[in-house]
Order: sequence, then structure tokens, then C-alpha cells
Amino acid sequence: MSRSHRLDIAATWDRRPLSADAHSHLVLRWEATTLLLQIEAPFAGDPAPTQPAGSTPRLWEHEVVELMLLGADARYLELEFGPHGHYLALRLDGVRTIVEEGMALDFHAEIEGDRWRGEARVPRAWLPDDLRAANAFRIAGTGADRSYQAAFPAGGDAPDFHRLEAFAPLSTLAPEVCGVDWRGLLDAIDRAIDDANGPSTAPPTDLPAGLAAWLDQARQRLDFDRLPRGESYARCLVGHSPRHGASLFVMGWTPGVPTPIHDHGSWGIVGVVRGTLQEERFDADADGTFVGAARRPLRAGEVAAFASKPTAIHRVVAADHENPVSIHVYGDAAASFHIYDPDTFTAELYIPETLDAEHCGS
Ligand SMILES: [Fe+2]
Repeated sequence: MSRSHRLDIAATWDRRPLSADAHSHLVLRWEATTLLLQIEAPFAGDPAPTQPAGSTPRLWEHEVVELMLLGADARYLELEFGPHGHYLALRLDGVRTIVEEGMALDFHAEIEGDRWRGEARVPRAWLPDDLRAANAFRIAGTGADRSYQAAFPAGGDAPDFHRLEAFAPLSTLAPEVCGVDWRGLLDAIDRAIDDANGPSTAPPTDLPAGLAAWLDQARQRLDFDRLPRGESYARCLVGHSPRHGASLFVMGWTPGVPTPIHDHGSWGIVGVVRGTLQEERFDADADGTFVGAARRPLRAGEVAAFASKPTAIHRVVAADHENPVSIHVYGDAAASFHIYDPDTFTAELYIPETLDAEHCGS
């Protein structure tokens, strides 16, 4: 099981899409003995339960976000959370058959304007063995305006959140890295390579613009505080595109410490999410000696691309006082490349440290 999953509630129970500002988001971070659940949802302003925050019977009659985790044999855990700090935990064995309820857990919530955030710690011991699938729901509004929403809607004649066949297998849920669901970008990378008639030494024509369009979303959603820092940079592998195996990284930069002079062995595209990077490119002169060719700043929102032939050689330094963040796409796994001695330009194979999602804000 990967170390995190993400569910987005983006439709009503009968599959009508919700506008983007009405979506709710749940991130499940699997720790050794605890499931850390983070909720971010619209706040409808429904009346709070009359009892104090804490474990609350019949919480589903109020404004609530629910997570259900399903194991084998229709055993499942139902967790409900409200914006005022109320929660309800139920264990079920068979559809709607409650075997335990009112278990105490650690939950706090905070309302910020028209949104609320909550964080819960759920003992993994409560979860069914052989955890298989999940769904998430939100109920909010009063009277005729009451809205029943689902991550994986079951449809049917009336809202029913216990239609276990509608739940999604955990393996199909988005891995979540640094607060962002990257599947759309990974798919777009494959489509751009297809449109360019397959892998090549040059980046797919449409991909730089496609990456640029992602930078805004990444800026809004990236959990910058969770990004690690390296001596010069820390390189977080987000994933590989499903069909062509192009690699996608998020990099967090430490100001003032340049990378070694290096190549990549594949085409590459760099987009700056935050801050400014300074890139220095090198060209071979008539003797085959590399010389500094060009320096240019790469500012937030800008994208640079390079081909693998002729070999693109460069070094990069974070020029800002804050820690810049960038997104990198390479045509292969980018597991190794060459670094070059700055005086002799002799090349040496280099295997950079790559952090996985677990160390990159997941
Ligand atoms: Fe590079």
C-alpha cells in the first residue's frame, strides 16, 4: 500500500458534478499505527450539534464529511466529522450492521471563512483486515437544500452511502505528493509524447505549454512546508507517466548553492513554481571544449526545455533568498546522468539521490 491516498468529493450522490469551489478533499496518510486523515471542505454554516465537540451520536443529521474504509466480507469503518469538532466512529459488519460505535479518537477542526479543515488520528487497529476500498461523502445544507455528495457516487433512486459496490479500490486512488494530485499531468505527458509520435530526443512540442498551465495549480496546492531541502536541491520523484515512463519530479532549492555542471541523458522540461532559478548553459567550442554559453533567469511561471541531442549541459542555482520550487519532466527515468569537472570537463557518471513520496510531503 502506498503511504498516502487522496479522495476528492466532486459530485452529488446522483453523479451531478459540483463546481470546483464546492469540492471537498480528504488525504489519508498511513503512519505506523495511525491513519492521519486531513479534511478540507466547504463550510455551509449549518447549525452545530447542541452537545460539545467530541464523539457525537447521529452526527449524520448535521453538516458532515464521512470516510468509509472497506475490508473483505463487507466489514467497514465509518468515520464522520463536522466543522465544529464533532465526530463519530462506527464499525460495521455487513451493510448498515453496526457492531461498535462511539469510539474515541483525536480530532480537531477549524473554520476559515467559507471552508473548514479538520485533522483526525485514527488507530489502524480499528481498520478491517485486508483493507480494500474506500469512499467519501459530504452532507450539508438544511431542508430542501440538503445536499448529498460522494467521491464515488452510487446513483440509484435515493442517496445511499452504504452501497459498497460503488467504493473505489485503494489501489486506484490518487497517490498524493506534496498536496497535489499529479495524475492529470502524468497522463498529459503521455498524450504529448503520443502526439509527437513517440519518444524522441526532443521534448514533445506541446508539453512545455502544458507544464506551464500546471504551475499555477501547483503554486496554489503545493504544501511547501513539507518539501524537503537538500544541500543544493532535494529531488522528489512524483511518478512516471503510465505508458512512456517519462519521469516527473518536484525540486526544492536551497539558495546560493549551484548544482554540479551536468547533463540529463534525455530531453527535459523545467517549470518554476516559486522563486527564481539562474541557469547557466554550456556549449562545445571548435576544440570540443565546453564553454559557458548563456545565463538566464527562470522565474516563477516560466518554463525551459532542452533536447538530449546535442547533449544539453548546464548548471542551476537558486537565485532567490526564499527557497524556489520547480517541476521537472524528463523523457526517461532520470535515474542517472553525468556531471562534469568545471576545469577539465571530464564526465563522470552520477546517481542523484531521489526521495520518494514518503519523504516528500506524503
Ligand atoms: Fe538539470
